[in-house]
Amino acid sequence: MRTQVGIVGAGPAGLLLSHLLHLQGISSVILEARDRPYIENRIRAGVLEQGTVDILTETGLGERMQREGLHHRGTSLRFQGEIHEIDFVELTGRAVMVYAQHEVVKDLVAARLAAGGSIVFDAHVTGVDGLTGDRPTIHFEQGGQKQTLECDFIAGCDGFHGPCKEAIPAELLKGYDRVYPFGWLGILAEAPPSQDELIYANHDRGFALYSMRSPTITRHYVQVTPDEDLNQWSDARIWDELHQRLSVPGNDPIIEGPILQKSVTGMRSFVLEPMQYGRLFLAGDSAHIVPPTGAKGMNLAVADVRVLSQALERHYASGSNDMLERYSQICLRRVWRAQHFSWWMTSMLHRFGPENDFDRHRQMAELTSVVTSEAGQKYLAENYVGLPFET
Ligand code: FAD
Ligand code: DHB
Repeated sequence: MRTQVGIVGAGPAGLLLSHLLHLQGISSVILEARDRPYIENRIRAGVLEQGTVDILTETGLGERMQREGLHHRGTSLRFQGEIHEIDFVELTGRAVMVYAQHEVVKDLVAARLAAGGSIVFDAHVTGVDGLTGDRPTIHFEQGGQKQTLECDFIAGCDGFHGPCKEAIPAELLKGYDRVYPFGWLGILAEAPPSQDELIYANHDRGFALYSMRSPTITRHYVQVTPDEDLNQWSDARIWDELHQRLSVPGNDPIIEGPILQKSVTGMRSFVLEPMQYGRLFLAGDSAHIVPPTGAKGMNLAVADVRVLSQALERHYASGSNDMLERYSQICLRRVWRAQHFSWWMTSMLHRFGPENDFDRHRQMAELTSVVTSEAGQKYLAENYVGLPFET
């Protein structure tokens, strides 16, 4: 098999890259270890930055998202028994969209297949080589058969545990890592949202997040230990924690309903530099992970492939590699800003274990500074709706 761009992974990064390349007349093949139902039902992110919404809309993927997605003009912070609203539209003129990642994945898969695109499911990539030559190769196994895909370029869109980064000589790579002493227990419930916007709560019992997916489905998270045993969390215990952490006197936003899905996610910050080696380019979670508090992970994956598709288009249209050579440098500027924002939101909103009273008071003072100052609110709003793309 041969193609212009071989893409490892059919997450948001790999699928969107393939779509953007197709619009420029560049061929690609996506190799995905899982099957189609699995990737189309994997429950993950929910918040799309304005720039992500714009790319999906401008490239013909916005129809269902505009119809079913929920436009959010702001968010709320709850602490010390009070609610504080932050109005993104008033502060920045921009907003966000709540539309599940797996719905974006469904829209992308449908668009690629309708356009005759090639997504090979159940194709487990075992390695990549030839990266410093002009015929890099992807090795994969499908149905017990070993196969290869030859390409001009390889995009490693294979997530945090994917194999592509292993092909970069270790002495050329530097990883930056921070693991947090907590995780999120997330639930999806058949219950209508009681209010329109997300709520981020810092409570003495720990962080909680009130979110939603549709007029009939809610999505909530509570801070737990990173290796929390889900068996210890009956539905009643989860609802009890959510009520306690998210309600303020006279206002409890939680409506209970059957819990459809529960999972625990550990939290970490991670950046790998550089994001390229020879003809291999890493994009999305394969190169960086953020703690989910800032809702940045999928949006960063989109921002990476936006740059990569433009750089590849330049290569094929004019033979110029200048943007390809600067790919890592361009992406990392945004990645580090998102890392800072995600770390900041995380550190401001979670309990970090046996804090002393000083730490707790400092955290409350920081939240108060944010909500009582227009500059503070604007800083949060500008980062949450997404920084402008570099031109
Ligand atoms: P992935 O989605 O991980 O896709 C990688 C793909 O590569 C997978 O399909 C995988 O099966 C495939 N693959 C791996 N290894 C191989 C192999 N050997 N061969 C072939 N294929 C392979 N982000 C936000 O922007 N907003 C949010 O609100 C948000 N909330 C989140 C909440 C939770 C609970 C979690 C867990 C994440 C959240 N994120 C959020 C992060 C977001 O989900 C990820 O950043 C996003 O999935 C990254 O996309 P990706 O395409 O880079 O990687
Ligand atoms: C959701 C996830 C997040 O990480 C976040 O910051 C906001 C919302 C969600 O899944 O709805």
